[in-house]
Amino acid sequence: MPTPQSQSISPPTTQLRIDLAERGYDILIGCGLLDHADAVACGVASSEALIVTNVTVAPLYAERLQRVLARHHARVHTIALPDGEAHKDWATLNLVFDRLLSDGFDRKTVLYALGGGVIGDMTGFAAACYMRGVAYVQVPTTLLAQVDSSVGGKTAINHPAGKNMIGAFYQPLRVIADLDTLDTLPDREISAGLAEVIKYGPIADDEFLWWIEQHIDALRSRDKTALAYAVKRSCEIKAWVVGKDERESGLRAILNFGHTFGHAIEAGLGFGTWLHGEAVGCGMAMAADLSARCGLIEPAYAQRITRLIERAGLPTRGPKLGAARYLELMRVDKKSEAGQIRFVLIDAPGHASLHRADDALVTEVIEARSV
Ligand code: NAD
Ligand code: GLY
Repeated sequence: MPTPQSQSISPPTTQLRIDLAERGYDILIGCGLLDHADAVACGVASSEALIVTNVTVAPLYAERLQRVLARHHARVHTIALPDGEAHKDWATLNLVFDRLLSDGFDRKTVLYALGGGVIGDMTGFAAACYMRGVAYVQVPTTLLAQVDSSVGGKTAINHPAGKNMIGAFYQPLRVIADLDTLDTLPDREISAGLAEVIKYGPIADDEFLWWIEQHIDALRSRDKTALAYAVKRSCEIKAWVVGKDERESGLRAILNFGHTFGHAIEAGLGFGTWLHGEAVGCGMAMAADLSARCGLIEPAYAQRITRLIERAGLPTRGPKLGAARYLELMRVDKKSEAGQIRFVLIDAPGHASLHRADDALVTEVIEARSV
Protein backbone atom coordinates (compact mmCIF):
# COMPACT_ATOMS: atom_id res chain seq x y z
CA MET A 1 0.00 0.00 0.00
CA PRO A 2 1.52 3.41 -0.94
CA THR A 3 2.16 5.92 1.85
CA PRO A 4 -0.06 9.00 2.20
CA GLN A 5 0.83 11.95 -0.04
CA SER A 6 1.08 15.35 1.59
CA GLN A 7 1.57 17.80 -1.23
CA SER A 8 -1.01 19.09 -3.58
CA ILE A 9 -1.50 21.07 -6.11
CA SER A 10 -2.83 19.92 -9.46
CA PRO A 11 -5.73 19.71 -10.20
CA PRO A 12 -6.92 22.88 -8.43
CA THR A 13 -9.48 22.97 -5.63
CA THR A 14 -13.13 23.05 -6.62
CA GLN A 15 -15.73 24.61 -4.36
CA LEU A 16 -19.39 23.63 -4.67
CA ARG A 17 -22.35 24.82 -2.62
CA ILE A 18 -25.20 22.78 -1.20
CA ASP A 19 -28.03 25.25 -1.39
CA LEU A 20 -30.12 24.70 1.73
CA ALA A 21 -30.60 28.26 3.05
CA GLU A 22 -29.36 28.43 6.66
CA ARG A 23 -28.27 24.76 6.49
CA GLY A 24 -26.30 25.32 3.26
CA TYR A 25 -22.58 24.53 3.10
CA ASP A 26 -19.55 24.20 0.88
CA ILE A 27 -17.88 21.10 -0.52
CA LEU A 28 -14.17 21.52 -1.19
CA ILE A 29 -12.57 19.03 -3.58
CA GLY A 30 -8.84 19.03 -4.26
CA CYS A 31 -5.41 17.68 -3.43
CA GLY A 32 -3.51 18.37 -0.22
CA LEU A 33 -6.54 19.90 1.53
CA LEU A 34 -5.85 18.01 4.77
CA ASP A 35 -2.83 20.23 5.36
CA HIS A 36 -4.78 23.46 5.11
CA ALA A 37 -6.32 24.48 8.41
CA ASP A 38 -8.37 27.23 6.83
CA ALA A 39 -9.94 24.82 4.38
CA VAL A 40 -10.77 22.28 7.07
CA ALA A 41 -11.81 24.46 10.00
CA CYS A 42 -12.65 27.86 8.47
CA GLY A 43 -15.79 29.40 9.90
CA VAL A 44 -15.97 26.98 12.80
CA ALA A 45 -16.15 28.94 16.06
CA SER A 46 -15.42 26.45 18.80
CA SER A 47 -12.58 25.70 21.17
CA GLU A 48 -13.20 21.95 21.26
CA ALA A 49 -12.99 19.31 18.58
CA LEU A 50 -13.19 15.53 18.46
CA ILE A 51 -11.92 13.67 15.40
CA VAL A 52 -13.95 10.50 14.92
CA THR A 53 -12.12 7.96 12.80
CA ASN A 54 -11.33 4.24 12.78
CA VAL A 55 -8.34 2.03 13.50
CA THR A 56 -7.42 1.79 9.79
CA VAL A 57 -7.62 5.47 8.89
CA ALA A 58 -6.21 6.85 12.17
CA PRO A 59 -2.58 5.80 11.55
CA LEU A 60 -2.75 7.24 8.01
CA TYR A 61 -4.31 10.66 8.56
CA ALA A 62 -5.44 11.42 12.13
CA GLU A 63 -2.21 12.97 13.35
CA ARG A 64 -2.06 15.32 10.35
CA LEU A 65 -5.64 16.40 10.83
CA GLN A 66 -5.14 16.81 14.57
CA ARG A 67 -2.09 19.05 13.94
CA VAL A 68 -4.00 21.22 11.49
CA LEU A 69 -7.06 21.52 13.72
CA ALA A 70 -4.91 22.50 16.71
CA ARG A 71 -4.41 25.83 14.94
CA HIS A 72 -8.16 26.50 15.28
CA HIS A 73 -9.30 24.64 18.38
CA ALA A 74 -7.75 24.81 21.88
CA ARG A 75 -8.47 21.13 22.50
CA VAL A 76 -8.48 18.42 19.81
CA HIS A 77 -8.91 14.75 20.68
CA THR A 78 -9.21 11.68 18.47
CA ILE A 79 -11.27 8.54 18.89
CA ALA A 80 -10.52 5.52 16.65
CA LEU A 81 -13.50 3.18 16.35
CA PRO A 82 -13.36 -0.43 15.16
CA ASP A 83 -13.40 -0.65 11.36
CA GLY A 84 -16.16 -1.97 9.17
CA GLU A 85 -19.84 -2.03 8.28
CA ALA A 86 -20.42 -4.68 10.97
CA HIS A 87 -19.57 -1.98 13.57
CA LYS A 88 -22.05 0.58 12.26
CA ASP A 89 -24.24 -0.08 15.29
CA TRP A 90 -25.42 1.18 18.67
CA ALA A 91 -22.52 -0.32 20.60
CA THR A 92 -19.93 1.50 18.49
CA LEU A 93 -21.93 4.73 18.40
CA ASN A 94 -22.03 4.64 22.20
CA LEU A 95 -18.22 4.66 22.29
CA VAL A 96 -18.40 8.17 20.80
CA PHE A 97 -20.93 9.34 23.40
CA ASP A 98 -18.88 7.72 26.20
CA ARG A 99 -15.80 9.62 25.07
CA LEU A 100 -17.59 12.95 24.63
CA LEU A 101 -19.08 12.69 28.10
CA SER A 102 -16.07 11.31 29.94
CA ASP A 103 -13.83 14.05 28.48
CA GLY A 104 -16.38 16.76 29.23
CA PHE A 105 -16.98 17.98 25.67
CA ASP A 106 -19.57 20.78 25.64
CA ARG A 107 -22.37 21.57 23.21
CA LYS A 108 -20.12 23.85 21.12
CA THR A 109 -17.86 20.92 20.29
CA VAL A 110 -17.27 20.19 16.60
CA LEU A 111 -16.96 16.56 15.46
CA TYR A 112 -14.74 15.80 12.46
CA ALA A 113 -15.65 12.61 10.58
CA LEU A 114 -12.36 11.32 9.16
CA GLY A 115 -12.97 8.16 7.14
CA GLY A 116 -15.34 6.46 4.73
CA GLY A 117 -19.11 6.34 4.70
CA VAL A 118 -19.37 4.23 7.84
CA ILE A 119 -17.49 6.82 9.91
CA GLY A 120 -19.29 9.70 8.19
CA ASP A 121 -22.76 8.24 8.80
CA MET A 122 -22.01 7.38 12.44
CA THR A 123 -20.30 10.69 13.25
CA GLY A 124 -23.16 12.62 11.69
CA PHE A 125 -25.67 10.67 13.76
CA ALA A 126 -23.58 11.18 16.92
CA ALA A 127 -23.50 14.92 16.13
CA ALA A 128 -27.27 14.97 15.61
CA CYS A 129 -27.83 13.38 19.03
CA TYR A 130 -25.10 14.65 21.38
CA MET A 131 -26.58 17.30 23.65
CA ARG A 132 -29.45 17.50 21.11
CA GLY A 133 -27.11 18.50 18.32
CA VAL A 134 -23.52 19.68 17.82
CA ALA A 135 -21.76 20.70 14.62
CA TYR A 136 -19.75 18.33 12.46
CA VAL A 137 -17.49 18.45 9.43
CA GLN A 138 -17.15 15.65 6.90
CA VAL A 139 -13.59 14.72 5.87
CA PRO A 140 -14.29 11.78 3.54
CA THR A 141 -11.34 9.51 2.72
CA THR A 142 -12.96 6.91 0.42
CA LEU A 143 -14.14 7.47 -3.13
CA LEU A 144 -17.62 6.38 -2.11
CA ALA A 145 -17.73 8.91 0.71
CA GLN A 146 -16.35 11.71 -1.49
CA VAL A 147 -18.91 11.20 -4.26
CA ASP A 148 -21.94 10.39 -2.12
CA SER A 149 -22.15 9.70 1.60
CA SER A 150 -20.42 12.82 2.95
CA VAL A 151 -22.86 15.07 1.08
CA GLY A 152 -26.52 15.59 1.88
CA GLY A 153 -26.84 14.98 5.62
CA LYS A 154 -28.15 11.41 5.75
CA THR A 155 -26.77 9.91 8.96
CA ALA A 156 -27.51 6.49 10.39
CA ILE A 157 -26.55 3.20 11.95
CA ASN A 158 -27.73 -0.26 10.89
CA HIS A 159 -30.20 -2.49 12.72
CA PRO A 160 -29.89 -6.28 12.31
CA ALA A 161 -33.29 -6.15 10.56
CA GLY A 162 -32.28 -3.51 8.03
CA LYS A 163 -29.69 -1.15 6.67
CA ASN A 164 -29.51 2.48 7.94
CA MET A 165 -32.81 2.03 9.76
CA ILE A 166 -31.92 4.26 12.74
CA GLY A 167 -30.78 7.75 11.87
CA ALA A 168 -31.47 11.41 11.17
CA PHE A 169 -31.19 14.04 8.47
CA TYR A 170 -28.48 16.33 9.82
CA GLN A 171 -26.30 18.48 7.56
CA PRO A 172 -22.56 18.99 8.15
CA LEU A 173 -20.87 22.40 8.36
CA ARG A 174 -18.75 21.58 5.33
CA VAL A 175 -17.23 18.72 3.36
CA ILE A 176 -13.48 18.51 2.70
CA ALA A 177 -12.68 15.91 0.03
CA ASP A 178 -8.89 15.57 -0.21
CA LEU A 179 -8.25 13.48 -3.33
CA ASP A 180 -4.79 12.55 -2.06
CA THR A 181 -6.35 10.36 0.63
CA LEU A 182 -7.52 8.05 -2.16
CA ASP A 183 -3.86 7.06 -2.76
CA THR A 184 -3.98 4.65 0.18
CA LEU A 185 -7.35 3.09 -0.62
CA PRO A 186 -7.34 -0.61 -1.60
CA ASP A 187 -8.33 -1.31 -5.23
CA ARG A 188 -11.48 -3.09 -4.10
CA GLU A 189 -12.64 0.11 -2.35
CA ILE A 190 -11.97 2.20 -5.48
CA SER A 191 -14.28 -0.16 -7.39
CA ALA A 192 -16.88 0.09 -4.62
CA GLY A 193 -16.80 3.89 -4.89
CA LEU A 194 -17.19 3.70 -8.66
CA ALA A 195 -20.59 2.07 -8.16
CA GLU A 196 -21.93 5.33 -6.70
CA VAL A 197 -20.21 7.34 -9.46
CA ILE A 198 -21.82 5.20 -12.19
CA LYS A 199 -25.18 5.60 -10.46
CA TYR A 200 -25.38 9.32 -11.34
CA GLY A 201 -25.27 8.63 -15.10
CA PRO A 202 -28.45 6.59 -15.66
CA ILE A 203 -30.45 8.49 -13.02
CA ALA A 204 -29.55 12.05 -13.96
CA ASP A 205 -26.95 12.63 -16.67
CA ASP A 206 -26.58 10.39 -19.69
CA GLU A 207 -23.56 12.41 -20.88
CA PHE A 208 -21.81 11.65 -17.61
CA LEU A 209 -22.52 7.94 -18.18
CA TRP A 210 -20.77 8.28 -21.54
CA TRP A 211 -17.84 10.14 -19.89
CA ILE A 212 -17.46 7.36 -17.28
CA GLU A 213 -17.41 4.75 -20.07
CA GLN A 214 -14.53 6.65 -21.70
CA HIS A 215 -12.61 7.08 -18.41
CA ILE A 216 -13.33 3.92 -16.43
CA ASP A 217 -9.78 2.60 -16.79
CA ALA A 218 -8.26 5.96 -15.81
CA LEU A 219 -10.54 6.05 -12.77
CA ARG A 220 -9.54 2.54 -11.72
CA SER A 221 -5.89 3.44 -12.06
CA ARG A 222 -6.50 6.58 -9.92
CA ASP A 223 -5.70 9.21 -12.50
CA LYS A 224 -6.12 12.38 -10.39
CA THR A 225 -7.63 14.49 -13.16
CA ALA A 226 -10.25 11.83 -13.91
CA LEU A 227 -10.98 11.32 -10.21
CA ALA A 228 -11.29 15.07 -9.64
CA TYR A 229 -13.86 15.35 -12.43
CA ALA A 230 -15.79 12.26 -11.25
CA VAL A 231 -15.98 13.58 -7.66
CA LYS A 232 -16.94 17.07 -8.83
CA ARG A 233 -19.67 15.93 -11.27
CA SER A 234 -21.06 13.43 -8.75
CA CYS A 235 -21.21 16.08 -6.03
CA GLU A 236 -22.80 18.59 -8.43
CA ILE A 237 -25.58 16.13 -9.24
CA LYS A 238 -26.03 15.17 -5.60
CA ALA A 239 -26.04 18.86 -4.53
CA TRP A 240 -28.73 19.59 -7.13
CA VAL A 241 -30.92 16.70 -5.94
CA VAL A 242 -30.47 17.44 -2.22
CA GLY A 243 -31.08 21.16 -2.82
CA LYS A 244 -34.48 20.28 -4.33
CA ASP A 245 -35.51 17.54 -1.88
CA GLU A 246 -33.44 17.48 1.31
CA ARG A 247 -35.65 15.01 3.21
CA GLU A 248 -36.53 12.65 0.38
CA SER A 249 -40.17 13.45 -0.07
CA GLY A 250 -39.77 12.52 -3.73
CA LEU A 251 -36.87 13.27 -6.09
CA ARG A 252 -34.06 12.31 -3.67
CA ALA A 253 -35.16 8.69 -3.84
CA ILE A 254 -33.47 8.44 -7.27
CA LEU A 255 -30.12 8.42 -5.43
CA ASN A 256 -31.18 4.99 -4.22
CA PHE A 257 -30.97 3.42 -7.68
CA GLY A 258 -29.79 -0.17 -7.09
CA HIS A 259 -30.00 0.21 -3.32
CA THR A 260 -33.20 -1.79 -2.75
CA PHE A 261 -31.60 -4.95 -4.16
CA GLY A 262 -28.22 -3.90 -2.74
CA HIS A 263 -29.42 -3.41 0.84
CA ALA A 264 -31.12 -6.84 0.67
CA ILE A 265 -27.78 -8.39 -0.34
CA GLU A 266 -25.95 -6.61 2.50
CA ALA A 267 -28.49 -7.57 5.16
CA GLY A 268 -29.06 -11.07 3.75
CA LEU A 269 -25.37 -11.98 3.76
CA GLY A 270 -24.63 -10.13 7.02
CA PHE A 271 -23.34 -6.53 7.01
CA GLY A 272 -19.74 -6.33 5.83
CA THR A 273 -19.68 -9.57 3.80
CA TRP A 274 -20.00 -7.63 0.55
CA LEU A 275 -18.88 -4.00 0.47
CA HIS A 276 -21.73 -1.51 0.25
CA GLY A 277 -20.53 -0.37 -3.19
CA GLU A 278 -20.36 -3.97 -4.43
CA ALA A 279 -23.93 -4.59 -3.31
CA VAL A 280 -25.06 -1.34 -4.94
CA GLY A 281 -23.21 -2.20 -8.17
CA CYS A 282 -24.94 -5.55 -8.36
CA GLY A 283 -28.23 -3.94 -7.27
CA MET A 284 -27.97 -1.47 -10.16
CA ALA A 285 -27.52 -4.31 -12.65
CA MET A 286 -30.65 -5.92 -11.16
CA ALA A 287 -32.61 -2.65 -11.18
CA ALA A 288 -31.55 -1.94 -14.78
CA ASP A 289 -32.73 -5.44 -15.75
CA LEU A 290 -36.04 -4.81 -13.94
CA SER A 291 -36.42 -1.46 -15.74
CA ALA A 292 -36.06 -3.30 -19.07
CA ARG A 293 -38.43 -6.12 -18.05
CA CYS A 294 -41.01 -3.47 -17.06
CA GLY A 295 -40.70 -2.04 -20.59
CA LEU A 296 -39.30 1.30 -19.40
CA ILE A 297 -35.99 1.13 -21.26
CA GLU A 298 -34.49 -0.89 -24.10
CA PRO A 299 -32.68 -4.07 -22.95
CA ALA A 300 -29.57 -2.66 -24.70
CA TYR A 301 -29.47 0.28 -22.26
CA ALA A 302 -29.68 -2.10 -19.28
CA GLN A 303 -26.86 -4.16 -20.81
CA ARG A 304 -24.77 -1.00 -21.28
CA ILE A 305 -25.12 -0.13 -17.58
CA THR A 306 -24.32 -3.71 -16.57
CA ARG A 307 -21.23 -3.81 -18.78
CA LEU A 308 -19.91 -0.61 -17.17
CA ILE A 309 -20.48 -2.02 -13.69
CA GLU A 310 -18.45 -5.08 -14.71
CA ARG A 311 -15.67 -2.88 -16.12
CA ALA A 312 -15.54 -1.08 -12.77
CA GLY A 313 -14.59 -4.43 -11.18
CA LEU A 314 -17.95 -4.96 -9.50
CA PRO A 315 -20.25 -7.99 -9.30
CA THR A 316 -23.35 -7.96 -11.49
CA ARG A 317 -24.84 -11.19 -10.12
CA GLY A 318 -26.18 -11.45 -6.59
CA PRO A 319 -25.86 -14.24 -4.04
CA LYS A 320 -28.46 -17.01 -4.18
CA LEU A 321 -30.54 -16.01 -1.17
CA GLY A 322 -33.74 -17.19 -2.86
CA ALA A 323 -36.41 -14.91 -4.29
CA ALA A 324 -38.63 -15.17 -1.20
CA ARG A 325 -35.79 -14.02 1.08
CA TYR A 326 -34.88 -11.14 -1.27
CA LEU A 327 -38.51 -10.00 -1.28
CA GLU A 328 -38.76 -10.27 2.51
CA LEU A 329 -35.57 -8.23 2.97
CA MET A 330 -36.58 -5.64 0.38
CA ARG A 331 -39.84 -4.95 2.21
CA VAL A 332 -37.72 -3.57 5.10
CA ASP A 333 -36.77 -0.53 3.06
CA LYS A 334 -37.44 3.11 3.78
CA LYS A 335 -39.06 3.49 0.36
CA SER A 336 -41.63 0.75 1.07
CA GLU A 337 -45.19 1.91 1.65
CA ALA A 338 -47.74 -0.29 3.44
CA GLY A 339 -45.48 -3.30 2.89
CA GLN A 340 -45.23 -2.63 -0.87
CA ILE A 341 -41.73 -2.39 -2.28
CA ARG A 342 -40.98 0.61 -4.48
CA PHE A 343 -37.98 0.50 -6.81
CA VAL A 344 -35.98 3.29 -8.38
CA LEU A 345 -36.13 2.36 -12.06
CA ILE A 346 -34.64 3.98 -15.14
CA ASP A 347 -37.46 5.24 -17.32
CA ALA A 348 -35.34 6.97 -19.98
CA PRO A 349 -31.59 7.33 -20.47
CA GLY A 350 -30.43 9.72 -17.72
CA HIS A 351 -33.78 9.72 -15.93
CA ALA A 352 -35.20 7.65 -13.04
CA SER A 353 -38.20 7.59 -10.75
CA LEU A 354 -39.98 5.40 -8.19
CA HIS A 355 -42.09 2.47 -9.44
CA ARG A 356 -43.94 -0.51 -8.07
CA ALA A 357 -43.17 -3.76 -9.87
CA ASP A 358 -44.94 -7.11 -9.97
CA ASP A 359 -43.40 -9.66 -7.61
CA ALA A 360 -43.34 -12.04 -10.59
CA LEU A 361 -41.07 -9.72 -12.59
CA VAL A 362 -38.85 -9.05 -9.58
CA THR A 363 -38.57 -12.80 -9.05
CA GLU A 364 -37.55 -13.22 -12.70
CA VAL A 365 -34.76 -10.69 -12.21
CA ILE A 366 -33.55 -12.34 -9.01
CA GLU A 367 -33.54 -15.76 -10.60
CA ALA A 368 -31.78 -14.54 -13.72
CA ARG A 369 -29.20 -12.50 -11.84
CA SER A 370 -28.21 -14.57 -8.81
CA VAL A 371 -25.60 -17.29 -8.68
P1 NAD B 1 -16.14 2.28 4.77
O1 NAD B 1 -16.46 3.51 5.51
O2 NAD B 1 -16.31 0.98 5.47
O3 NAD B 1 -14.67 2.39 4.21
C1 NAD B 1 -14.15 1.36 3.43
C2 NAD B 1 -12.82 0.83 3.98
O4 NAD B 1 -11.77 1.70 3.60
C3 NAD B 1 -12.75 0.71 5.49
O5 NAD B 1 -12.01 -0.43 5.83
C4 NAD B 1 -11.96 1.96 5.88
O6 NAD B 1 -11.29 1.82 7.11
C5 NAD B 1 -11.00 2.07 4.74
N1 NAD B 1 -10.48 3.39 4.46
C6 NAD B 1 -11.14 4.57 4.49
N2 NAD B 1 -10.39 5.54 4.00
C7 NAD B 1 -9.21 4.98 3.66
C8 NAD B 1 -8.03 5.48 3.06
N3 NAD B 1 -7.94 6.75 2.65
N4 NAD B 1 -6.99 4.65 2.88
C9 NAD B 1 -7.11 3.32 3.22
N5 NAD B 1 -8.21 2.78 3.75
C10 NAD B 1 -9.25 3.61 3.96
O7 NAD B 1 -17.03 2.18 3.44
P2 NAD B 1 -17.49 3.28 2.37
O8 NAD B 1 -17.60 2.55 1.12
O9 NAD B 1 -16.68 4.51 2.42
O10 NAD B 1 -18.95 3.68 2.89
C11 NAD B 1 -20.00 2.76 2.93
C12 NAD B 1 -21.02 3.25 3.92
O11 NAD B 1 -21.54 4.50 3.47
C13 NAD B 1 -22.19 2.32 4.09
O12 NAD B 1 -22.46 2.15 5.45
C14 NAD B 1 -23.34 3.06 3.42
O13 NAD B 1 -24.58 2.76 3.98
C15 NAD B 1 -22.96 4.48 3.63
N6 NAD B 1 -23.54 5.41 2.66
C16 NAD B 1 -24.18 6.49 3.12
C17 NAD B 1 -24.70 7.41 2.25
C18 NAD B 1 -25.33 8.67 2.77
O14 NAD B 1 -25.92 9.40 1.98
N7 NAD B 1 -25.20 8.96 4.04
C19 NAD B 1 -24.56 7.22 0.86
C20 NAD B 1 -23.88 6.08 0.42
C21 NAD B 1 -23.37 5.17 1.32
N1 GLY C 1 -27.18 8.05 -1.00
C1 GLY C 1 -28.58 8.32 -0.96
C2 GLY C 1 -28.91 9.69 -0.54
O1 GLY C 1 -28.08 10.46 -0.11
O2 GLY C 1 -30.04 10.05 -0.59
